[in-house]
Amino acid sequence: MKITVVGAGNVGATCADVLASREIANEIVLLDIKEGFAEGKALDIWQTAPINLYDSRTVGSTNDYGMTKDSDVVVITSGLPRKPGMSRDDLIATNAGIVKTVTENIVAHSPNAIIIVVSNPLDVMTYCAFLNAKMDSKKVFGMAGILDTARYRAFLASELNVSPKDIQAVLMGGHGDTMVPLPRYTTVSGIPVTELIEEEKLNEIIERTKFGGGEIVKLLGTSAWYAPGAAAAQMVEAIVRDQKRIFPVCAWLQGEYGMKDIYLGVPVVLGKNGIEKIIELHLNDAEKALLAESAEAVKSVMDVLDNMNANA
Ligand code: NAI
Ligand code: 2OP
Repeated sequence: MKITVVGAGNVGATCADVLASREIANEIVLLDIKEGFAEGKALDIWQTAPINLYDSRTVGSTNDYGMTKDSDVVVITSGLPRKPGMSRDDLIATNAGIVKTVTENIVAHSPNAIIIVVSNPLDVMTYCAFLNAKMDSKKVFGMAGILDTARYRAFLASELNVSPKDIQAVLMGGHGDTMVPLPRYTTVSGIPVTELIEEEKLNEIIERTKFGGGEIVKLLGTSAWYAPGAAAAQMVEAIVRDQKRIFPVCAWLQGEYGMKDIYLGVPVVLGKNGIEKIIELHLNDAEKALLAESAEAVKSVMDVLDNMNANA
């Protein structure tokens, strides 16, 4: 299996490191536009192999897509990260240009690859990759839901003083402040979370989750990378090992949840063919309303991209 990670910055390098150290693929190519940057990161990662005792090989490339030829999965992390005071949507123009070029190069060298987008604003950059890849939407999707759900699960684990392993949750919608954590689908080892936590505290955790990305930006001056990199690697693993895992993934909806022509976070089954199934939950009216609000927010940014493309 050959995996390419485009963008050797914080998220891309972390993703490559997890892919290598967990031997998810035996060949990992890290590509960046900055001269020598990916080579340096790849060499450093490779030099952890004798310490961490694995044999996956990571190599770096400065914008040479020849090295990515015939990749099975490509993770796109290239783009600017969010700075303090900047919304994800501020990133759209710059990152759309980057994602477009990268996607075209990837498809030219790996026409059968499955593409996972990480660059922000996530839902719209995934749409941008889909428009430029001209591939089946089951093979072009985005990572955000695993990260957002992980934040929700981590906050719950801290509050309840239990292992995060035992917390299962579903979170839907766009990767933004309108994301929709679903308490009705949150359990702790099968116990409904509402039996273990006061409503007020749960609502506080839900609010904290929605702004979880911004909380880290405020602390670090740039956005998160450990959890995002690990989340993208977990999606790669589900595909490479054909695990049929159920994850919230930013997927192209064609009627599911009553929505059409929109990329939005929904639970899917992930396996060797990419998105093998979109799972439609029986949402109640309040949940449907929150999802509709989130879809509206995503759609408005998709419209920005469509207008930019129409005027180009
Ligand atoms: P970073 O700045 O550390 O790395 C980005 C890398 O992309 C840089 O090394 C840069 O040289 C490279 N790059 C820029 N243009 C390129 C091009 N045309 N071809 C190849 N490489 C290029 O940023 P970081 O922290 O790694 O974040 C990457 C992206 O991921 C950002 O857009 C960020 O907002 C997004 N992100 C998304 C998350 C999600 O949940 N979907 C979570 C965290 C970050
Ligand atoms: C995050 O949620 C900024 O999307 C990035 O950490």
